[in-house]
Amino acid sequence: MKRDFLCLADFERAELEAMLDLAVKLKRDLKSGNAETPLRGRSLAMIFEKPSLRTRVTFEVGMTQLGGYPVYLQPSDIRLGERETVADIARNLDRWVDLIMARTFAHSTLEELARYASVPVINGLSDLYHPCQVLADCLTLLEKRGKVAGARVAFVGDGNNMAHSWMNAAAVLGFEFVLACPPNYCADARVLDRARQLGGKISVTHDPREAARDADVLYTDVWTSMGQEAEAVVRQEAFADFQINRSLLDLARRDAIVMHCLPAHRGEEITAEVIDGPQSVVFEEAENRLHAQKAVLVWLSEQARRA
Ligand code: CP
Ligand code: NVA
Repeated sequence: MKRDFLCLADFERAELEAMLDLAVKLKRDLKSGNAETPLRGRSLAMIFEKPSLRTRVTFEVGMTQLGGYPVYLQPSDIRLGERETVADIARNLDRWVDLIMARTFAHSTLEELARYASVPVINGLSDLYHPCQVLADCLTLLEKRGKVAGARVAFVGDGNNMAHSWMNAAAVLGFEFVLACPPNYCADARVLDRARQLGGKISVTHDPREAARDADVLYTDVWTSMGQEAEAVVRQEAFADFQINRSLLDLARRDAIVMHCLPAHRGEEITAEVIDGPQSVVFEEAENRLHAQKAVLVWLSEQARRA
C-alpha cells in the first residue's frame, strides 16, 4: 500500500528514525559533493492554498537536487474544490506526477487528496498539523543534542498545528512535551488524547515559566496563524504573556536551544535578543527543512516502489 505523510502519529518510531537517518546521510552527501539523484525522472506537484517561503523553496530545490522535477501550483491556479473537486484533482495529478505535496487550510482536504490519489501525498502544512517542520526540527535536535529521545521540549504559545505535530513526535519518538498556552487556545482534545494514547508524555499548563523550567528546547510560533488574520487583535492581547524572552530562557537548562518554525514576529512571541542570540538555532531548522523533506520524498518513493 502506498504511504502518505500527513501526520507524524501515523508512523512507527523505527520509520521516523529511518527518515531522520536518511536525512543525515543526504545532508552529508550534499555537503561533501557526493549527492546522488535517486528520483531521476520523477515529478512532484506542489499545491499551495496559503503563502510559503521555506516549504516552497525547500521542496522545489530538494526535488531538483534528487534528480526530479517539481511543479508549483499557486493558490489561484487550481482553486482546490472550487474549480473542480479535490477528488478529480487527485485523479488527474496522479496520471502525471509521482508525488503530491499540498499546503491546505482544512486537513480534510489533504485526507481527500490522499484517498483519491494513487501516489503519495505529503502534508506541507494544514490547519491541524505541520509534520515536515517538526521532522526537520527533530533533525536539528538530533544534531545539537546527539539524540531526540528523553529531551524536554517546552512549547510556549498557541495550541496550533505546530504544537499538534510536536505532540505526535513526542509520542512516537519518546520525549517529553509541555505546552504552555492561554486557557482559550489549548490544543485540539482529539489530537492530545491520541498522542497520549500512543504513550506520549505530554502536559499542558497556562504558565510559561512552569513549562520552561529545565527545558532542553524552548519553542514558539506566531500568535496568529495563516487563516486567522481576523483574530489578530484579540490574539495579541490573549498571548501577551506567552513570549520567549531572556527571563524565560534563564529558567531553561543552561545548554537549552531556542527554536521557531518561522516566519517570526520579533517583539511578539519572541524577543529579537533571544531569536538572534547564541542559543537560537532557527536558521539551522530552516536549512534542515531541505534535508528532512528530501528524506521524506525518497522514503515515500521507495515505499511506493515496493507496493
Ligand atoms: N516554516 C514554514 O513552513 O515556513 P513557510 O510558511 O515559509 O513555508
Ligand atoms: N502556525 C503557523 C505556522 C507557519 C509555518 C501557521 O499555520 O501559519
